[in-house]
Amino acid sequence: MSMLDGIQSVRDLEVAGRRVFVRVDFNVPLEGKTVADDTRIRAAIPTLKLLLDKGARVVIASHLGRPKGGPDAKYSMEPAAHKLAELMSLDVILADDCIGDGPKKVVGDLRDGQIACLENLRFHPEEEKNDEAFCRELAKLSDAYVNDAFGAAHRAHASVAGLAKLHRDRAAGLLLEAELSALGRVRGEPERPFVAILGGAKVSDKIGVLDALLTKVDVLIIGGAMANTFLAAKGLTMGKSLVEEDKLALARTILTRADEKKIALVLPDDVVAAESVDATSGRVLDVTALGATDMALDIGPRSVAAATKACAGAKTVFWNGPMGLFEKAPFAGGTQGVAKALSELVGAFTIVGGGDSVAAVQEAGLASLFSHVSTGGGASLELIEGRKLPGVEALRG
Ligand code: 3PG
Repeated sequence: MSMLDGIQSVRDLEVAGRRVFVRVDFNVPLEGKTVADDTRIRAAIPTLKLLLDKGARVVIASHLGRPKGGPDAKYSMEPAAHKLAELMSLDVILADDCIGDGPKKVVGDLRDGQIACLENLRFHPEEEKNDEAFCRELAKLSDAYVNDAFGAAHRAHASVAGLAKLHRDRAAGLLLEAELSALGRVRGEPERPFVAILGGAKVSDKIGVLDALLTKVDVLIIGGAMANTFLAAKGLTMGKSLVEEDKLALARTILTRADEKKIALVLPDDVVAAESVDATSGRVLDVTALGATDMALDIGPRSVAAATKACAGAKTVFWNGPMGLFEKAPFAGGTQGVAKALSELVGAFTIVGGGDSVAAVQEAGLASLFSHVSTGGGASLELIEGRKLPGVEALRG
């Protein structure tokens, strides 16, 4: 069964002259008042263009950041709306709120083929509570609903879940469709050999996905600081490296399960270490050679070579999470090495998800060489874990 069964496509929605609420995920990194990475904004454009070309009056809405309980200029949608206007070469009218008289007037004044952006949905705590009255207020602004916010589809929030159900005409946007069909290939029966590469700081963030992957991968490659916890669980001394002491037992269980299931679990052989995260250079050390003041901040070249070898011949590869502190040049080699290795695989369906690993792939100019670059971090992990995403379920029926 496809994940899109029972879900209408935005392509089939009657939209001419109608107000269409499009939930996008414009939760983008900002540098001051500028969008630092516009990937998510670009990704929403095909759906917005399709709707505008069909004469819809488009009302977009998103959250940005995690404002605490009320309006906060730091989290205004203004930079994102501005970026969208620039990318689409059209006016995007920004409302001063997402419910109430301001947005009603802005949306009421929209003409066919025009677009307005509501202010940050999370300026109202009711958004995260999926509050019914809040959903009804939002619903006053639209005749049809489209969800194109894959990155937020795992959140049972008002604009993602409750609001969809208040619209008889509700549909998946093109981005959501593309994400579900690509990630559906990993969630279901991935073509084998199937290799998963997990990185990032913490084992605790990846417990669910590790569990799910152990039932289907042939090879599991672990890097990033989460590898430290596995190495410590095997009895190695990790010096000052980040190790989750309370997850050592869990790491041991995972190692045993992988062994029982004959899964090749690949941990780093070498690391790039320094005495602090602010160091301007690192030393390549064997994982058995860390001193008391050493901190493992990236996987080393031998580990990149081992990961590359372990991916050779794979038919499906899923990657989430950087291999080290990639935002600092001396510790970016591992993540870049893995990005390059995956971009060069022939005949494999390659997916990368998660803000940091995607950013690394984009920075290296390799994104177009992946089969799919997911705009969702948490959402892609929950999907692969086999969980139902509220934003997807709300569109069914
Ligand atoms: C994301 O960036 O992962 C999504 O936009 C969800 O954001 P959240 O974790 O703040 O809900």
